[in-house]
Amino acid sequence: MKRRRFLKSMLALLGSTTLLSFLYPLLRFIAPPTGEARVERIVIPKDEVPTGGAKEVVYRETPVIIINRPGKGYIALSRVCTHLGCLVEYDGRKGRLICPCHAGVFSLDGVVLSGPPPKPLPRFSLRIEGENILIG
Ligand code: FES
Repeated sequence: MKRRRFLKSMLALLGSTTLLSFLYPLLRFIAPPTGEARVERIVIPKDEVPTGGAKEVVYRETPVIIINRPGKGYIALSRVCTHLGCLVEYDGRKGRLICPCHAGVFSLDGVVLSGPPPKPLPRFSLRIEGENILIG
């Protein structure tokens, strides 16, 4: 009789752990995400991006670079290379964005100049309000 009770207890334990292993992921999927909220708007003083300079920010979980192109003004581009997703680096002396992984080269407009990237860097809209640059 003791043995039967023990087996029933083990079966109940096994059943409840199996049920929990299915319920926990389901509850995590249904529950709203916690943690840091996504940045919906970025405000940067124009002083922080002088002519020929650049500033890196994260917007909506995407690494973005804001460049003040000489004679052309500000532009905000994704830093995620369109080849395999490495982060491009700004080379102010050459006036290019360079991907360190496979030597992809982009113009400061995000256009592919050489290398394997199949398409231009995505561009984010920005606007100037007074002394600030606004994205979003
Ligand atoms: S990931 Fe950028 S060139 Fe390959």
